[in-house]
Amino acid sequence: MCGIVGFIGKNAKTQIIDCLKKLEYRGYDSSGLALINNKDKIEIIKETGFISNIENLSNNMFDDLEIGIGHTRWATTGKVTKENAHPHVSNNGRFAIVHNGIIENYEAIKSDLSHKGYTFSSETDSEVVAILLEENAKTAKSVIENIKLTTKILEGSFSLAILDTHSPDKIFATKKDMPLFVSAGADFASIASAVVGLPHDAIQYIMLENHDIAEISLNTIKVWQNEEMVDRRVQKITKDDLNHTMHNHKHYMIKEIFEEQVALEKTAEAFSSLKPSAKKEILDLFASHKRIHLVACGTAYHACLVGASLLESIGFDCSCHIASEFKYFPPNLNDKCLCIFVSQSGETADTIGCLKLVQEKGIKCLSITNVESSTIAHISDHLLMTKAGTEVAVASTKAYNCQCLIFYLLTQAISKNNQVISIKNLKIDKILQTINQISKLSQIIATFKKVFFIGRGLDSLTAKEGSLKLKEITYIPSESYPAGELKHGTLSLVDDESLSIVILTQKSTIHKTMNAVSEIKARGGFTLVVTPFDEIQPNHEIDYVFHLPILKNEQHYPLISIIPLQLFAYFTSIEKGINPDKPRNLAKSVTVE
Ligand code: AGP
Ligand code: GLU
Repeated sequence: MCGIVGFIGKNAKTQIIDCLKKLEYRGYDSSGLALINNKDKIEIIKETGFISNIENLSNNMFDDLEIGIGHTRWATTGKVTKENAHPHVSNNGRFAIVHNGIIENYEAIKSDLSHKGYTFSSETDSEVVAILLEENAKTAKSVIENIKLTTKILEGSFSLAILDTHSPDKIFATKKDMPLFVSAGADFASIASAVVGLPHDAIQYIMLENHDIAEISLNTIKVWQNEEMVDRRVQKITKDDLNHTMHNHKHYMIKEIFEEQVALEKTAEAFSSLKPSAKKEILDLFASHKRIHLVACGTAYHACLVGASLLESIGFDCSCHIASEFKYFPPNLNDKCLCIFVSQSGETADTIGCLKLVQEKGIKCLSITNVESSTIAHISDHLLMTKAGTEVAVASTKAYNCQCLIFYLLTQAISKNNQVISIKNLKIDKILQTINQISKLSQIIATFKKVFFIGRGLDSLTAKEGSLKLKEITYIPSESYPAGELKHGTLSLVDDESLSIVILTQKSTIHKTMNAVSEIKARGGFTLVVTPFDEIQPNHEIDYVFHLPILKNEQHYPLISIIPLQLFAYFTSIEKGINPDKPRNLAKSVTVE
């Protein structure tokens, strides 16, 4: 996980901190920076907690320095402590590094280096890189050769930014299976783990390939691959890439929920403006493959469940896979299968791992992602973009609706259904007008010790996503079930400290779902029903009701019934004094398996 940044130019410290803040969504356990001072020595500032901590600590310091690297951490190896925060420095103080990823063989390297007399001041896997650089400098003829020797020893995944006091005007960078972008302007050069982490005035970037070594100075960027200098494709930065402001909202999450209508419109627009040849290519995939595997994690997996149900409804045979489990239960893959990968960030290591595995078998892959500069977008055979815009809050919201929408649009296109879904008719504005009611209901939700989400059919899928949202940012234990499954075990957990949120949008399920409500009430549980049906009102069995707008096509409810659930999670989190954008222990983009 984590975000890394490097900057050469005026106000390097401030630039690094600004860029790190834009990457804070990737991890926020601790942060740090290293700058080369005027005597060619490395200055380090690091601290646990948010980036504002190192900002305060470095106030009025190092303002004249013009080269440095920075890191915002999501710990994989070693506790969340100041010592484990990056950057890490070699014993002789020559090299400083920041690392994103996991060095899987770090214990063996550490033991070897310890025998050679080196000492370690952290528990991290990353520190071995700084010390290996010191060791390999004894034999390497150049820094580039040193980095090559060093990274050859490393197993696992990494993107690295390196300072070397013997080249005090340069930053070196390299990567394997972690993203890294380099950008240069008239008076700066920079690197970052994501395009959004590049400076505001960056207009273009290159994406490094695995094992590239970049030598970055103010005037030149050289990229080496196997001793050869190589050119990497220069890509333009769009406004959307750098959109990273909260406008008038208190948190990114609420801002992003309010952006859902526009995000859906843009996604629909992008889909309908696909070049005829690109559209044909995608539709041909579906024409020639009837067996579909959908692979993703977390929220994106829930979007796959919705997608699979839609594709099944038009005759496809679908299975959904949680990416981290894919290799343990490998499906029977052959050239009749199409694999679809869904990922907001396009950087989720579990999903990328499966994509590569499937590609090695020669199976066709279609990916749905929200970030055009991401690894998944880069390596997929076929791509469909959601146009949700930058999603910063850890809890995915607008990306989910857009991922679901892509499946609706695909299903319509494949089945040659001319009735294209109208985003306006989803009446999202009506839900957003009920924010006061939602916020009051959330005050009630915050008083419960456990919350269940139930529903039948499509609603059971929305229930899963609603439950993930709630537990993720409120820390209230929550589970979701198909409504009929409750009585097969979980009903034993229902008591007067539990709330069951019932999603009920499909007419044919009213009777049976209300049976589940009766069963919950009979055990003293509380119930909140989310439904468009007017006839459902609070009564002796239903404690609370939230009414959704009425849609003409009830198959479209998954696109909007999730919105009040996202809002419940948001306001409950606020009620409990939690920052919904940065829930404990999590990070936005999970780039380790
Ligand atoms: C969603 O709220 C979560 N933060 C998480 O489950 C996320 O959806 C998952 O990690 C997958 O991320 P991706 O879509 O970027 O691949
Ligand atoms: N493995 C390193 C650590 O735990 C880097 C983690 C990351 O990529 O966030 O410090």
